[in-house]
Amino acid sequence: MNNNQPSFFELLIEAHIGLERQGPGSRETIKKALGFLGDLNKFESIADLGCGTGGQTLILAEYLSGRIVGLDMFPEFVRELDKKAKSKDLSDRVKGIAGNMERLPFEKNSLDLIWSEGAIDNIGFEKGLSHWRGFLKKGGYVAVSCPSWLTNEHPAEAEKFWNDAGSDLDIIGNNIAVMQNCGYQFVAAFALTEECWTDNYYSPREKAIQKLIEKYDSCDTVIEYAGINRSEAELYLKYKQHYGYVFYIGRAV
Ligand SMILES: C[S@@+](CC[C@H](N)C(=O)[O-])C[C@H]1O[C@@H](n2cnc3c(N)ncnc32)[C@H](O)[C@@H]1O
Repeated sequence: MNNNQPSFFELLIEAHIGLERQGPGSRETIKKALGFLGDLNKFESIADLGCGTGGQTLILAEYLSGRIVGLDMFPEFVRELDKKAKSKDLSDRVKGIAGNMERLPFEKNSLDLIWSEGAIDNIGFEKGLSHWRGFLKKGGYVAVSCPSWLTNEHPAEAEKFWNDAGSDLDIIGNNIAVMQNCGYQFVAAFALTEECWTDNYYSPREKAIQKLIEKYDSCDTVIEYAGINRSEAELYLKYKQHYGYVFYIGRAV
């Protein structure tokens, strides 16, 4: 292989760093989820886990007056969040940190709200909710979006894709039971709309991939990376009635 070719990791960062979001979601979804949390003024200490470059973190900062820490495993993304927070004059209460969602760096019982969009499946829904519960104050909320089965039919091709990606999808009812078993009162669950995937994530990502193909002069790694990303988007269009992101909201009891 040509040593000048970028690695998959580099391509992943480069394709995503300039995007508004690194996964499916929308402002409307955020507002809808916030609508289940009661008085938003009570949230003083908030964590946004797997924040990416902070698209949703900064939207949260518009609706919440508390301090928000965005945590992500990629320092490149976290730096981008800090840059955007600074440009919006929010650095005094929005801060990014590089870290692992599996070992949160917060004090126990210190958070009013844990937010997380499209990230918990990387460590497992149960593992994440159970670990995070210890960092919430009693009565604090968790609001997470997670890819889930929307029907009882689980097409093998889609199941294989998600399993290979390390995300074992479950049905909504099972996830709600998991949430309750992890020490939360169930508050709400709702599915994200198709536009959250297509207009807000796959379309801008495709444009970024096109730019990479031009920049790297159609080198093998970029073509392979583009192919994998495009297959993922095609898979969604083929099976979107069977799987999607679902927002789960719970309250620490
Ligand atoms: C699908 S992206 C979602 C990003 C953002 N929340 C959004 O919705 O646009 C998942 C994010 O989770 C982060 N992530 C995955 N595993 C993680 C871990 N163990 N600890 C911290 N961040 C992680 C990734 O780096 C990535 O930014």
